[in-house]
Amino acid sequence: MHDSPAHMSRFFLLCLMSCGAESAPVQPPVDTADTAAAEPPDADYGRWALLNEDYIQCGVPASVYDQYVGAASPAERMAERDGRNAELPYYMTAVTADNGAELVAQNCLFCHAAFMDGELVVGLGNPWLDFTTDATAYAAAMPLLAADEAEREEAEKWSERVMATGGSLVTDTVGSNPADTLAQALFAHKDPTTLAWSSSPMMELPSGPIPTDVPPLWNMAKKERMLYSGTATGDLPRVMMTASALCTDDVEDAEEIYTYFDDIAAYFATLEPPAFPDAIDQGLADEGQVLFEDSCAMCHGTYGEEPTYPGELVGVDEVGTDPSLALQPTDILRFVDWFNESWYGETATLAPTGAYIAPPLDGIWATAPYLHNGSVPDLASLLDSSIRPTYWRRSTTYDTTVVGWRSTTLDGGKDEASDPTRVIDTTLPGWSNAGHIYGDGFDADQRAAVLEYLKTL
Ligand code: HEC
Ligand code: HEC
Repeated sequence: MHDSPAHMSRFFLLCLMSCGAESAPVQPPVDTADTAAAEPPDADYGRWALLNEDYIQCGVPASVYDQYVGAASPAERMAERDGRNAELPYYMTAVTADNGAELVAQNCLFCHAAFMDGELVVGLGNPWLDFTTDATAYAAAMPLLAADEAEREEAEKWSERVMATGGSLVTDTVGSNPADTLAQALFAHKDPTTLAWSSSPMMELPSGPIPTDVPPLWNMAKKERMLYSGTATGDLPRVMMTASALCTDDVEDAEEIYTYFDDIAAYFATLEPPAFPDAIDQGLADEGQVLFEDSCAMCHGTYGEEPTYPGELVGVDEVGTDPSLALQPTDILRFVDWFNESWYGETATLAPTGAYIAPPLDGIWATAPYLHNGSVPDLASLLDSSIRPTYWRRSTTYDTTVVGWRSTTLDGGKDEASDPTRVIDTTLPGWSNAGHIYGDGFDADQRAAVLEYLKTL
């Protein structure tokens, strides 16, 4: 199975950016949930909103986008998108600014959709995004490319945001995702109560991203806590909205977006993981299920007809995986406090846990690399810590035997590589591949059985 990550990096410069807006001229389905406050959220409307709404309220001028990027390839278009969105790749959305400028903005699927075996899977984290270069230089040039005054005004707004936040987003490795740091950098520039943007930061910017992978969204059906550390509880659509905060500069705009974010969350809860594509040895998987229920289910739950999920928070000392994300330095608390005091925190709460949540393992076969930092290439080595490579590089071929992106083990780390940003170096801060040794007690046959069972989830 192959994927094509190459196109991704050039979009980064266009992507974290776009700003003040009306939705594109398209015909939305009726949001039944919006007509009466008591109605349950509407998942169908949520999918439409995720693909078409202007929850990211700023972007690059459409004329610049058309000139430098052009129409999307057929594989990147989604049939059910309307109007101009039908010609854009799935991860970009057309937005009309308040001043009339036509813009193109990155949407949630930039990080939360990816190709697997040639199919676009909404909800699968994109493990190929390249945040290793500082995009601020490109952003500075954007207003110069604008075609008219309205575009220039919007390009300046976008460019200011990117330059204010972009410097703290640069990662050391392709696939490592700085979403948490982007949110923190935006918090630093916004008044928590009014959400007004301030050109100069009102608190110290984050020091830089801690390595994280992108979790699959189909797990949200089971999860009551959000994020790898289980930090977020309460009204989760509000927490999700922090990912759209780039240019939401007042409470009125936030309230407007909020009217459909419960629908988007309801849509996430309907997402299903892709099925394992190869044959499964059912007898072996049944043996694995018994072992799994003995050794793993207390944290990860049970699967099948009547699934259970305990949502277990496991302290870093117990799970033993890299502690950096769960035990952030105390100065990170300023961002937690900002959230809790802000409009976003009116109905949701962030609280550090010092733990990682044991995630549901539905569709686990498809979500390599593994652990919150993506430090383990495949399920075979997740189940046997003695074979986890210290230095490795990922290929674009999915290997359904070891279950993960086929990888090459290297003799040295980034310092010795010609392409250091492609090398996963587990000796670096945040990148430890230690811990989670719950499979180490199995013998080879038992491990093979559990691996077979994991393919069925
Ligand atoms: C730049 C990449 C990026 C973008 C864009 C992005 N996300 Fe995320 N998202 C992440 C990462 C990384 C995490 C995990 C962060 C963590 O747990 O510390 C995450 C976590 C989540 C989770 C929690 C999943 C779980 O299992 O706990 C949800 C839900 C979510 N994002 C929804 C959204 C929505 C809705 C949008 C658009 C408004 C969005 N994201 C945009 C990268 C992104
Ligand atoms: C004591 C609780 C606990 C037990 C027992 C446990 N796990 Fe986990 N598991 C966790 C936690 C916590 C994480 C997340 C760790 C992290 O990301 O740093 C995790 C992560 C994983 C992941 C990676 C998830 C991802 O998205 O990358 C897999 C796969 C997994 N566990 C499988 C198993 C299997 C199979 C067993 C039994 C052999 C098992 N676990 C036993 C707590 C547990």
